[in-house]
Amino acid sequence: MGIDIIRGRGHAKVNLHLGVGDARADGYHELVTVFQSLSLHDDLELRILHGTVAGGGSVVDSLQLSGTAAGVPADETNLAWRAVDKLVAAYRAAGVGELPKVELRLRKGIPVAGGMAGGSADAAVALRVTQAWLTELADPLPVEELDRIAAELGSDVPFTLHGGTMLGTGRGENLVPVLSRGQYHWVLAVSSQGLSTPEVFAKLDQMRAAGRDLAGSTDPADLVRALLNDDPVQLAGCLVNDLQAPATSLRPGLRKILAAGEAAGALKGIVSGSGPTCAFLCRDADHAEEVAAELIDTGLVLTARTATGPAEGAHVVPKTF
Ligand code: C5P
Repeated sequence: MGIDIIRGRGHAKVNLHLGVGDARADGYHELVTVFQSLSLHDDLELRILHGTVAGGGSVVDSLQLSGTAAGVPADETNLAWRAVDKLVAAYRAAGVGELPKVELRLRKGIPVAGGMAGGSADAAVALRVTQAWLTELADPLPVEELDRIAAELGSDVPFTLHGGTMLGTGRGENLVPVLSRGQYHWVLAVSSQGLSTPEVFAKLDQMRAAGRDLAGSTDPADLVRALLNDDPVQLAGCLVNDLQAPATSLRPGLRKILAAGEAAGALKGIVSGSGPTCAFLCRDADHAEEVAAELIDTGLVLTARTATGPAEGAHVVPKTF
């Protein structure tokens, strides 16, 4: 009967450096960014519905959501669903035979619309579990093809597929690994309402057009050096996010949260990606627990949780039985 369930995990990310250039003709912005994956994750199960036939349409029969999934679509617009369909289309083009339908079960642990690549992580883990399933039935697609499909799904999907610490250029999809020594400890302050990534980028364009001095941070050299030293204090001094100004302009309450985290002793607080999650770098695990507890006490945040980085990219979880 073959495999029945394939399980996988996709990790969140934080941008340690997020330099944003001007808008390109295609509407995207040229980035110079250093991504680091975090222990925070979503889990995905692909369940093969033996005895069913997908025909030429979507192989996904349904998507069930659990965890903190408010606002996440459970239909074919979900990035995990789209990722499965796109990879299946590539395998069909390569001649894979008739496929059964599958059910997806997604457990969300990454904040939704939080600037932590939750949707991208779901797409990436969907690619991994679908690839694991289809390589039982056909020759595997080359790695470059998987990366190409990932980039079509979203700018952060290639990074979430690979994880670790990487320099991203272009839309963020051109990646090279960056050496990072040690483990960094973070507190993630989650807001009750998400922010729209396109709106945050558009706000930055608007602020620049209005003459605000918000030049793109194109040089992450200091940060890259700090990552070699396994020194969170040095790293804290190098964290940069060009989307922080527009995110805090759209959501002024974030300034209070950033100040509260630093008053609670965090080495540095930054908006994560396009926000609104605020990420606070701490000295060690105990320090992160203390900062998280103090932040929760302020009542300014929905939750504050600890996480470590770097973590893995999206991967299939081996069977434990
Ligand atoms: O690629 P993705 O679909 O994740 O991007 C979401 C939106 O974020 C884009 O439509 C665009 O408005 C903005 N974006 C951008 N420049 C990038 C990445 C994303 O302007 N490099």
